[in-house]
Amino acid sequence: MTSLIELKSVSVSYDAVNAVRGIDLSIKDGEIVALLGANGAGKSSTLNAIVGLAPVSAGKIIFDGTDITDFSSETLAPLGLTLSPEGRRVFATLSVEDNLMLGAYSVKDKAQIKAAYERVYELFPILFERKQQYGGTLSGGQQQMLALGRALMCSPRLLLLDEPSLGLAPIIVEQIFELIALLRQQGVTIILVEQNVSMALNIADRGYVMASGKIVAHGDAASLSDSTTLENAYLGAE
Ligand SMILES: Nc1ncnc2c1ncn2[C@@H]1O[C@H](COP(=O)(O)OP(=O)(O)OP(=O)(O)O)[C@@H](O)[C@H]1O
Ligand SMILES: [Mg+2]
Repeated sequence: MTSLIELKSVSVSYDAVNAVRGIDLSIKDGEIVALLGANGAGKSSTLNAIVGLAPVSAGKIIFDGTDITDFSSETLAPLGLTLSPEGRRVFATLSVEDNLMLGAYSVKDKAQIKAAYERVYELFPILFERKQQYGGTLSGGQQQMLALGRALMCSPRLLLLDEPSLGLAPIIVEQIFELIALLRQQGVTIILVEQNVSMALNIADRGYVMASGKIVAHGDAASLSDSTTLENAYLGAE
């Protein structure tokens, strides 16, 4: 089977900082792949590079057969490539509804937008109850749901989740993992960055472990759970 997304020797550099150093990743349609590693390992930089938000200094990114290395983030959303960023990047002074609408900016079809709203409100009923409330006045967990909901508004084919459970109560974390499982059933391919390693490997098919900008291990989720490489990647962090 061919890959939905492939990174070939991709590097990301911010001036003097080489955040990602020549990594190879290959993800098939319908897979959930965990991207793990200690703080500063280069996980967010990798996701941001895929969606055109971090500078790729070398290598190629191929999405569904197209070289998207130099594509801007605006041109990637219509292709079905979406990032739910780390932290709760919701617009504080826009309503819940308008925050969601921004996620659908690349969608032209009104009926499709309406269906997307319904889907998000069904997944997160609290967002429906609060649809007129300002994003900034939601609780932390509600803001995280809003950030995820916004990423779902354009019906992504490839969804990049950067620490979706960060700072959330255990019950909400469970709901978010249930949502990830549901999205998989709907055929969405997912790259999941998570500090909750055991939950991530529990839901993922495969995983990659990063340390200091490199991939230091990869394999199926079960074998990674058992490996000492994973532990070392965290312990050996800068
Ligand atoms: N915009 C930037 N400018 C300069 N350096 C950056 C920038 N973004 C990230 N870095 C650096 O690149 C390295 C990798 O950061 P990145 O955010 O990708 O790590 P991460 O694996 O997501 O870490 P965390 O688990 O803490 O979120 C770090 O050393 C970080 O300081
Ligand atoms: Mg990060």
